[in-house]
Amino acid sequence: MKTIRWGIVGAGNIANRFAEACNNTPGAELCAVASRDIAKAEQFAKKYNIPHAFGSYEEMAAFDGIDIAYIATPHGLHADNAILFMNHKKAVLSEKPITLNMSELERMIASAKENDVFLMEAMWARFVPGTKKLLEIVESGSLGKIRGIQSTFSYDMSDEPDHHAFDPKYGGGSILDVGCYCLSFASWYANSEPEQITAVAELSDKGVDLHCCYLIKYKNGAIASLSSGMTLRKPNEGYLFGEKGYAYVERSYAPQKIELHIEGKDVEVIDCPYYGNGFEEQIMEASECLRQGKKESDIMTHDQSRLIMRLMDEIRRQVGVKYPVD
Ligand SMILES: NC(=O)c1ccc[n+]([C@@H]2O[C@H](COP(=O)([O-])OP(=O)(O)OC[C@H]3O[C@@H](n4cnc5c(N)ncnc54)[C@H](OP(=O)(O)O)[C@@H]3O)[C@@H](O)[C@H]2O)c1
Repeated sequence: MKTIRWGIVGAGNIANRFAEACNNTPGAELCAVASRDIAKAEQFAKKYNIPHAFGSYEEMAAFDGIDIAYIATPHGLHADNAILFMNHKKAVLSEKPITLNMSELERMIASAKENDVFLMEAMWARFVPGTKKLLEIVESGSLGKIRGIQSTFSYDMSDEPDHHAFDPKYGGGSILDVGCYCLSFASWYANSEPEQITAVAELSDKGVDLHCCYLIKYKNGAIASLSSGMTLRKPNEGYLFGEKGYAYVERSYAPQKIELHIEGKDVEVIDCPYYGNGFEEQIMEASECLRQGKKESDIMTHDQSRLIMRLMDEIRRQVGVKYPVD
């Protein structure tokens, strides 16, 4: 198996989880990290045994010792950072949400096409065993047709009001930060196109959503009830409601345990642990795509990113969240 050489862009919070996973993924080698601060890059490199540390993103983009860059900067920088690397003929795995709006996403996809390089949104949850198992269960028909979907992802970071997660310039608000998981969860199991969407939100003084609830009706009649938040705690869980029963999952977007409640049967609990910390599966997918010369994943396609981005654009339009880039 050809080894795929990875570089990390931005040595922040989630880059740590990615580095740990990359070091734990067969066929992947973590070769470089870039930070705006060389001391920070060197410290990160030492922690994860990474041979090359760079004090600017530009230097790592020009380095020929990596095949693919993992973009781990605030959402509002993903597009420019990704395009920098793609212009240097590097493949890109960009953290979620892939960017802030549809026109920025089209700019990224156009750059991937022009440069003939691979681009994928790091929607790691799509690749974990629990998601694959849930898809199999739905396809088997044991729940009957899925008529309802529920998913919530909410946390409280009200003690960090200056964090970029609250800043419109960086795509702040719960819709982009965690709502993208709820929207993705619903899209995987609805098996239909969205037809109608209605959203309400509580906005911050800076105009980003702190709490947002959305209802989507799909063309096949299924209805999803979703919510995201960043200043309140809700149980992060999901349900798929079918004609014959329902599935319940904790951490709906990336479950490690599935409870099946089927009419007339005992409750069945299915364990589906991650390979490691949950990021390895997406690294395997992107690495395998590169080995096969693919420019996009067959699973986490550009169109899937477009679908979720279109919904986020519409939800923001309805609740009045506007970014400078819009
Ligand atoms: N997949 C997941 O489970 C998951 C979880 C959390 C976050 N995320 C996503 O990952 C991305 C980064 O989130 P995070 O929580 O890791 O954020 P973070 O801790 O703030 O790290 C972001 C990094 O981006 C770099 N950066 C470049 N320009 C910056 C600027 N103007 N302001 C702040 N940082 C800047 C910094 O790295 P240097 O100083 O080293 O350049 C910073 O450490 C977001 O898009 C988020 O949605 C994904």
